[in-house]
Amino acid sequence: MVFLNGEFTPKDQACISVMDRGFLFGDGVYEVIPVYAGKIFRLSDHLVRLQNSLDSIQISNPYTPEKYQNIFDQLLEQSPNSNQAIYLQITRGADTVRKHSFNELRPTVFIELNPLIPKTKTELENGYHAITQPDFRWERCDIKATSLLANIIYSQQAKQSQVEEVILHRDQMMTEGATSNVFTVKGNTLFTHPTGQHILSGITRDLVIESARHCGLIIKEVATNIDDIFSANEVWISSSTREVMPITNVDSKLINNGKIGQHWSQVYDHYQTIKNA
Ligand code: PDD
Repeated sequence: MVFLNGEFTPKDQACISVMDRGFLFGDGVYEVIPVYAGKIFRLSDHLVRLQNSLDSIQISNPYTPEKYQNIFDQLLEQSPNSNQAIYLQITRGADTVRKHSFNELRPTVFIELNPLIPKTKTELENGYHAITQPDFRWERCDIKATSLLANIIYSQQAKQSQVEEVILHRDQMMTEGATSNVFTVKGNTLFTHPTGQHILSGITRDLVIESARHCGLIIKEVATNIDDIFSANEVWISSSTREVMPITNVDSKLINNGKIGQHWSQVYDHYQTIKNA
């Protein structure tokens, strides 16, 4: 069952109008919210980011936080105690004509659950590969928009190059991954791009920073030169579905001689503690 515009429907029977602006223009926003053992993780942070995305594109939030919670609870009853990723999408709604500018419409709300299978620490310890690319996305990467053409192009490049992620740089400064935030460690310092319009402010990013601080790392939220990645001791990516993942090879060059860093291991463990609390 999925939730669409007030109703719970089997997925293959859920329909939207061909005039929906999400379909015509990618005129919508979304969230991906992890659920661990049936418990929704950092829901209020995701709902705050959703509100910011909606405000940025002038869509009125159709539901209260209590209503979202209620819908999620009903969907989660289908598979209690499991790990899931809630996918929540809100589009501006369906109009009668295709026109770029808009009048206020009834937003379309679609919510579904997908299985979430986090990698085990042993799997993660193998390390992952990434490639770098210039960031040609727009200047409002802080909006979690469903119009994701650039991210799709990069993700397909990653797939075709058989790597986990594409790490992006704008004017030589590292921004984030195509679908993740990026961190580098040098000595005892963790570097990551500051929040703002050039990255998505990841909920997992906040948790990684919190965990790293707990583990005694110095946090520097500053943009770093993309070339610095090759001399980093550790490189990590983070997202709600990947948690915090070590990258040991960038553009076919080894990071830390291809070995997992000790800081990643500690931060990963603390992240699990927060998650399971
Ligand atoms: N993507 N940056 C980008 C461009 C992203 O697409 C994502 C997540 C993140 C990390 O955000 P968070 O920690 O809140 O998941 C950063 C999701 C998972 C997706 O599009 O499926």
